[in-house]
Amino acid sequence: MISAEKLFQKMPKVVGHRGASGHAPENTLASLRKAAELSTSFVEIDVTLTQDNSAIIQHDADVRRCTNGSGPILLKSLEEVRALDAGSWFSPEFTGEHIPTLREATDILQELGLGLNLEIKPTVGWQIPTAVQVAKELLDYWPEDLPLLISSFAVECLIEVRKHLPEVPLGYLTSAIPPDWEKRMKEYDCASLHCERHYVTEDHINAIRSAGYRVLVYTVNDPEEAKKFLGWGADAVITDFPDRMLGLLKS
Ligand code: G3P
Ligand code: MG
Repeated sequence: MISAEKLFQKMPKVVGHRGASGHAPENTLASLRKAAELSTSFVEIDVTLTQDNSAIIQHDADVRRCTNGSGPILLKSLEEVRALDAGSWFSPEFTGEHIPTLREATDILQELGLGLNLEIKPTVGWQIPTAVQVAKELLDYWPEDLPLLISSFAVECLIEVRKHLPEVPLGYLTSAIPPDWEKRMKEYDCASLHCERHYVTEDHINAIRSAGYRVLVYTVNDPEEAKKFLGWGADAVITDFPDRMLGLLKS
């Protein structure tokens, strides 16, 4: 695993959200390919578990929004999940896209040379099994030299991952920055804080950076806003439209 120091040296200022989800169905292989096509070198995707304990790339706990099916993923087998069309809801040109497994996503990231911010997105109640399985799979096949930053809103996931992957850089993911953020960063052994754009101020960024941590802001789709956050010292913005940023910002 790449150390936090090396990872942040490699991380560009623009990170693709769910791949390049403004241009392709989020969290699909097409979205990862699109990110690479748009010259993004780092992407964020979400990982969750199926009923039969496979790590798959999907944001919601229910497949309704992003596929032609419905119902909770945690109650579906990998085979059932794989039978769903995860592309046509976005646009007919993506008909036939599947929900990828973490393994498939890893293979394509390696092929494309993209670094990854893997957000663990457990079905609520399934934090520990999700973290255990994701860590197990990563130990099994994650390429040693490919940048990997793991984040989660679920601190149970961060704590569990740390037990299995003592070296992997962790990101504390939140909407608003809690008043005791510094205590939490230490407690969960995080290298970066990932916060929602509405709640972050210049003072926050100064304080977090001065304490030796990195700051990522999501989801920033307006290039002027991205410039503002980066001007305040944010390390990166996470965006659905990396192409909008690359014209303006040196990544
Ligand atoms: O990891 C940043 C961002 O993806 C967190 O929110 O809901 O888009 O997964 P969400
Ligand atoms: Mg996410």
